[in-house]
Amino acid sequence: MNRQTEKLELILGIETSCDETSAAIIQGDRVLSSVISSQMVHLQFGGVVPELASRAHLRKIVPIVNQALQDAGLELNDIQAIAVTNGPGLVGALLVGVNYAKGLAMALDIPFVGVNHIEGHIFGNFLDGAEIPYPFLCLVVSGGHTQIVLVNEPLNYRIVGKTRDDAVGEAFDKVAKLLKLPYPGGPEIDRRAADGDPDYVKFPRAMMKNGNFDFSYSGLKTAVLNFLQERSEQQVQAHLNDICASFQQAAVEVLVKKTVEAARTFQIRHLALAGGVAANSLLRRWMQEEAARFHLQVHFPPLKYCTDNAAMIARAGREHLLRGVRSTLELNAYPALKLGDPPQDSREV
Ligand code: KG4
Ligand code: ZN
Repeated sequence: MNRQTEKLELILGIETSCDETSAAIIQGDRVLSSVISSQMVHLQFGGVVPELASRAHLRKIVPIVNQALQDAGLELNDIQAIAVTNGPGLVGALLVGVNYAKGLAMALDIPFVGVNHIEGHIFGNFLDGAEIPYPFLCLVVSGGHTQIVLVNEPLNYRIVGKTRDDAVGEAFDKVAKLLKLPYPGGPEIDRRAADGDPDYVKFPRAMMKNGNFDFSYSGLKTAVLNFLQERSEQQVQAHLNDICASFQQAAVEVLVKKTVEAARTFQIRHLALAGGVAANSLLRRWMQEEAARFHLQVHFPPLKYCTDNAAMIARAGREHLLRGVRSTLELNAYPALKLGDPPQDSREV
């Protein structure tokens, strides 16, 4: 088969980089099915246990792909290409998806391509008819990443700001743990903050006056810890929602102000959000308000495509496949893969 004769309409996406086993089928940019299985085994540990994640992916990958096929009304033989996350993420978890994709691609004799998970998150904005005009600035906020990315044209990324320590999602999760809230903490803090007073505590806004677009979240987490240590359990419990709202206000304000400032500096009119924290209700609302003040337009994926899912991976993979990129059977998992790294272990057709 060569590029001219290959059909790349129906693409199976596979995502196993962390604690979600997900498979999705897209046709063009339309999502025909999207199945996400969140691993519950980690709940008792208050965070993801890597080996348990790999084992759960191994058990789930086949039934999840079968479910995605069934939901789309398709059979394995209908799939024309596969896109699979090959980094960044937990190496053992990534290897399950990568090896499954290789085996399936070989059995079906169809092309497959490795996808950067962060790039996948950005392409969560390009599903089901949604699009963003280029150039745009994307705030990528997840459990492992906090970056402002300038996307000048498709697949061209320049990171103009990033966290120097913790990712913002990590800060949400760690603060939730300090407050003895269940994992993952982000959604729980978001929910509680809705009934809390964001001015109850004035937590620090890090690096606001630095004149650059980098972030720091370890100081905020420590500030919450110090605050809690100076109070009794009873005082904390009585003001749990207020503490959540105050922390969320501090975390989100920096994201909003810096992203809008970056857009003005680089004279970019379109802003996008991507990654799990893009589901945060305050971030979505505040970014829109702040952007409107400067006549900027904000785009964000529907909630179901913010947190980890395979539809975004299929969509990003499609961009590479259509440009002739094919992974080889050498494709490896790269836990520290960076956005903008050239496609790994691939050839062009
Ligand atoms: O993108 P994602 O699903 O996985 C990674 O690639 O890391 O992001 C997960 C992160 C977690 O830290 C989770 O707490 C956070 O996204 N998150 C939220 C919300 N929903 C998920 N953080 C704040 N507010 C939310 N509503
Ligand atoms: Zn993610």
